[in-house]
Amino acid sequence: MGVLMCPKVNTVAVRPARNILGSLRVPGDKSISHRYAMLAALAPGRSRFDNFAPGADCASTLACVRALGCKVERDEKGSIVIDGLGAQLRAPSAPLDCGNSGSTMRMLSGILAAQPFASELIGDESLSRRPMKRVIEPLTQMGAEIHAAGDHAPLRINGATLHGIDYAPSVASAQVKSSVLFAGFLAEGKTTVAEPVRTRDHGELALRAFGAEVERTHNSVSIVGGQALHPLEAFVPGDLSSAAFFLCAATIFLESNLVIDGVLLNPTRSALLDVLTAMGGRISMVRVEESHGELLGTIALAPGQGRHVKIENSLTALLIDELPVLAAIAPFTTGGLEVHDAGELRVKESDRLSAVTCNLQAMGAQVEQTDDGWHIPGAQRLHGAEIESYDDHRIAMAFAVAALRAEGETLIRNAECVAISYPSFFQDLEGLVER
Ligand code: S3P
Repeated sequence: MGVLMCPKVNTVAVRPARNILGSLRVPGDKSISHRYAMLAALAPGRSRFDNFAPGADCASTLACVRALGCKVERDEKGSIVIDGLGAQLRAPSAPLDCGNSGSTMRMLSGILAAQPFASELIGDESLSRRPMKRVIEPLTQMGAEIHAAGDHAPLRINGATLHGIDYAPSVASAQVKSSVLFAGFLAEGKTTVAEPVRTRDHGELALRAFGAEVERTHNSVSIVGGQALHPLEAFVPGDLSSAAFFLCAATIFLESNLVIDGVLLNPTRSALLDVLTAMGGRISMVRVEESHGELLGTIALAPGQGRHVKIENSLTALLIDELPVLAAIAPFTTGGLEVHDAGELRVKESDRLSAVTCNLQAMGAQVEQTDDGWHIPGAQRLHGAEIESYDDHRIAMAFAVAALRAEGETLIRNAECVAISYPSFFQDLEGLVER
């Protein structure tokens, strides 16, 4: 088969493919899994989640929830079962390790800020470089005391009785929005977050699924503190940001035919489908249903004729996790791609703006990097190369996809980082590839 572990530690070799064909289910959505686990801790009683995200990031959240006094188990069917304690958790006996997960650190901060104890949040090297002022600022305004190394982890949080605030974050970040709403749920009075542009709404939907009332008007979301949550039993829809790798791969092969079942179709996440349509994918959605406010269904994709695509402003925020793979397939599309307003990519698990540029250049692509995006012409021929993942799961997976259309073999270094969101990625990819 074309994907094999090399003698070189943790390097994966990807050979060119002829086609992408078949159907699959992808692991449960990471954003929803984090939020369900955190809210389950605050809902007294037993919650159960099927298809909970299997990656290391959500495992970090589960470990933190356990360290805060909740029983967390996997049952015989593989579902995650959490016995929640209610609004007041237990003081952890050691620092809470968020691993590589920005979502864990930022969103859990909102909950810890309202607890009657002190706690410390730590992370790996990459997470300890990522900006945290964006949550420190609003949570401090609400009454918590947070000590950090400047803008960075470790975060030492002295919880307090919080009061509601009106907050207008300067960055578009769903993690910040959820963090402030979780704190607002535990605070006195009303908390409102007015976003600069709309971001994914899983925090709002999850709060409602657990029984809280959340109000939305345009880009503002409000919650009143002191409400009660009930436990939840839910299926976590497949992660569209993981499905993105296969959908992008199928778009760049003339004869592909791909079906993905049970995948998230939440409109704040599904802009990818519009972009792939513009790039030439013919997409249909069937069996669309709703589960606790989240839409899910089956996506079928076959290739067609594409055109040049420009991603900017609010569309950039909605596609933030899919931009690396869209950029990685852009050279193989008819019309190419330009991306603007994506400066946030510099502060993800790696500097994704530069990581994509360097790897595309290593494969012989023509690419112009700007301050906040790229211009990538279409109709290019790329060759296999040695790719650096920068220990970033989405970079490793994006270039495994590009490698399928390159001439010759591509080596992905430190490819084990895919386990952050998608431990079985290479096996699932191999199952769809025709050579
Ligand atoms: C996420 C929001 C995004 C995204 C991350 C998950 C979430 O981060 O990149 O993978 O679950 O809310 P930002 O909030 O930093 O934009």
